[in-house]
Amino acid sequence: MTTLNQTPSLAGRDLLSIASLSAEELTSIMDLAERLKRDPISGAGALAGRSIIMLFEKASLRTRVSFEVGIHRLGGQAIYFDQSRQRLGERESIKDYARNLERWVDGIIARVFSHVALEELAEHADVPVVNALSDIEHPCQAIADVLTLRERRGSLDGARLCYIGDPNNVCHSLMLACATLGVGITVIAPPGEGPDGDIYDCAASLASAAGAALDVSTNPRDVAGHDAVYTDTWTSMGASSDPDRLRAFEPYRVTPELMARAGRDALFMHCLPATRGAEVVDEVIDSPASVVYDQAENRMHAQNALLAQLFAR
Ligand code: CP
Ligand code: NVA
Repeated sequence: MTTLNQTPSLAGRDLLSIASLSAEELTSIMDLAERLKRDPISGAGALAGRSIIMLFEKASLRTRVSFEVGIHRLGGQAIYFDQSRQRLGERESIKDYARNLERWVDGIIARVFSHVALEELAEHADVPVVNALSDIEHPCQAIADVLTLRERRGSLDGARLCYIGDPNNVCHSLMLACATLGVGITVIAPPGEGPDGDIYDCAASLASAAGAALDVSTNPRDVAGHDAVYTDTWTSMGASSDPDRLRAFEPYRVTPELMARAGRDALFMHCLPATRGAEVVDEVIDSPASVVYDQAENRMHAQNALLAQLFAR
């Protein structure tokens, strides 16, 4: 499907961090995703004859199903490999794992506890490796999220997004995606719970190059004046669920009052799964402002666009 592959520079690359994509590359993935959403037939055959393994150390609904269905739609084969009882590197070295896999499959999609394991896999596998969530980033989610925001607003020009809650993997990839695309982003979290320092530095330099605002605050009132309010679970997979830590997040719950403060037309976003009643209440996630199921649907279109470009012939 050569006609689909609008960004030849993506062919054969890994996607471990969203920061590895330029604004032009991210935009071309979003453009292709919109086209595949409108006209699914146009993607048929993009992965013909390709086999892609999906190594999952952690649970998943959206990522697993959207990749499996998406790869099928593009004419490829997805092989799900449950790594939940045996983490990468336990049975044999990650290097040997990678060097075996590359002899059979055309690509690796991996959901891992440790981002370092993902980097080691990519270092030794001579086929594209895609991060399907690590402790540090969730790049495929961020592509779907900026696509959803663009779809709803018509454009990302002048857009401002607010992430409130636990500054986790999802938040990190959003910060980097927004900064790359010149979308303003404010991260609001309890004192002592800020984003990873290296991610912040990287996002700050991308934001400054793109002329976008990147702010970090501890004050929930700073949601005011944003196009979208985004939150995620306060307890990511593998993270601490210490009740004392969780108590600090209470003032950061997304309620109708907080949404009203954000702005009359503000959208509500969440990568899901949600802990209803914790980071968000039913009245918000079930409200007309909520685009959470659009985000979930767009995972597949965004990932299909990404895969079509990574596996361009
Ligand atoms: N948003 C997301 O990645 O969902 P899953 O954990 O269900 O894959
Ligand atoms: N931050 C969450 C995202 C799940 C899709 C986690 O890592 O569990």
